[in-house]
Amino acid sequence: GNESTVSITVVGASGDLAKKKIFPALFALYYEGCLPKHFTVFGYARSKMTDAELRNMVSKTLTCRIDKRENCSDKMDEFLKRCFYHSGQYDSEENFTELDKKLREHEAGRISNRLFYLSIPPNIFIDVVKCASTSASSANGWTRVIVEKPFGRDSESSAALTRGLKQYLVEDQIFRIDHYLGKELVENLSVLRFSNLVFEPLWSRQYIRNVQLIFSEDFGTEGRGGYFDSYGIIRDIMQNHLLQILALFAMETPVSLDAEDIRNEKVKVLRSMKPLLLENVVVGQYKSHTKGGITYPAYIDDKTVPKDSLTPTFAAAALFIDNARWDGVPFLMKAGKALHTKRAEIRVQFRHVPGNLYKRSFGTDIDRATNELVIRVQPDEAIYLKINNKVPGLGMRLDRSKLNLHYAARYSKEIPDAYERLLLDAIEGERRLFIRSDELDAAWELFTPLLKELEEKKIAPELYPYGSRGPVGAHYLAAKYNVRWGDLS
Ligand code: BG6
Repeated sequence: GNESTVSITVVGASGDLAKKKIFPALFALYYEGCLPKHFTVFGYARSKMTDAELRNMVSKTLTCRIDKRENCSDKMDEFLKRCFYHSGQYDSEENFTELDKKLREHEAGRISNRLFYLSIPPNIFIDVVKCASTSASSANGWTRVIVEKPFGRDSESSAALTRGLKQYLVEDQIFRIDHYLGKELVENLSVLRFSNLVFEPLWSRQYIRNVQLIFSEDFGTEGRGGYFDSYGIIRDIMQNHLLQILALFAMETPVSLDAEDIRNEKVKVLRSMKPLLLENVVVGQYKSHTKGGITYPAYIDDKTVPKDSLTPTFAAAALFIDNARWDGVPFLMKAGKALHTKRAEIRVQFRHVPGNLYKRSFGTDIDRATNELVIRVQPDEAIYLKINNKVPGLGMRLDRSKLNLHYAARYSKEIPDAYERLLLDAIEGERRLFIRSDELDAAWELFTPLLKELEEKKIAPELYPYGSRGPVGAHYLAAKYNVRWGDLS
């Protein structure tokens, strides 16, 4: 039969995301032998560049993750030979027609499949999609488009973007990336829960006291202030990455592992949640801090940020799911930049053991005796369960110890970057880890009223020093629900 070929066009090829993530991920897939036999990578952007210049630019971003492999540099050369460049405007059908011609040459009469990765600002998504779909879509295979957030900044703008895309594409052609869904431990969440008898039956209000979703970075917006200031941490991290984790964590058992079945359950749980209220949220912004003779800048010291910016670089929020499984269980989220550590994790705090025989052994602080399951998404991936254990010896003293699955110790295989998983899925047409438009709508509905209120009332963020544990308000927010942040205790 007729062989097929895949052409991957990275639109916005000289941008940060392309250089840091997309090209390296494509190379890693090539290295692992995951790309189809016939494939080509095209960079597309406005600046003039030759194929050789693109290759040179790309080559600087490629690494052999496992250094010792001798044939890595050969593989790099092979990969780079498959990379080409086309310079064009983002709204020029003519330029996309030229691209189409080049793609055809490479396809050489085989079945043509085309993937466009829009690594560009969202205000030009529609222009590009219009030109690509009218002038450069596949004649006899599939055409798919990967887009990445921001998908608008509230319900209305997101819906407008979706309407725009759907003038030219059907839902099945749109692959909306949330790269947290491509992370190993996020993907593993469902395995952990649905394939282990010791967890699944406990996954409800009956045994779980609260769930915490924590994201922290130990650097500020350095250089990205321009983008960040018009979005803020709630749109940058909470409305997508943390909410997606929450949806996977809390959804009901899907009918099957099919993309539609899983996404149906995610939408259901998102729609069972109430929109966030201002009283359930704390916002913060980092201020300058001097430590060890080094002065770390305040958020507003970033030259691309207005001096009077009220944009939150930190937020904590309490969310509730109004269904039989989760009624009354607080889901606490916390996300911040310029904090003391870089970490993303899920913490599940279980209820007390009723009438615990060993209560006394913990002194007065029985809270410390509850089990806690921690899924550390990054860095240093791990899943561990804190249990109570007898300290060996003749006395009866208990301590909290960990049953610890530490990935680095357990698995010798390195963990692929999220973009590798997601790009491979997009090429294979697997939609499980991509956001469907109704999911996106539901996610925006939860956050839009809050975002509007914060902006209309000009709510001032609580300042916290660069490199600290964030504003103390987050502590009081949790305390309101009788919760203690697991990462701070
Ligand atoms: C992005 C945000 O989506 O995720 C960034 O826009 C953030 O602000 C990044 O730094 C974090 O991703 P990761 O994979 O490094 O945890």
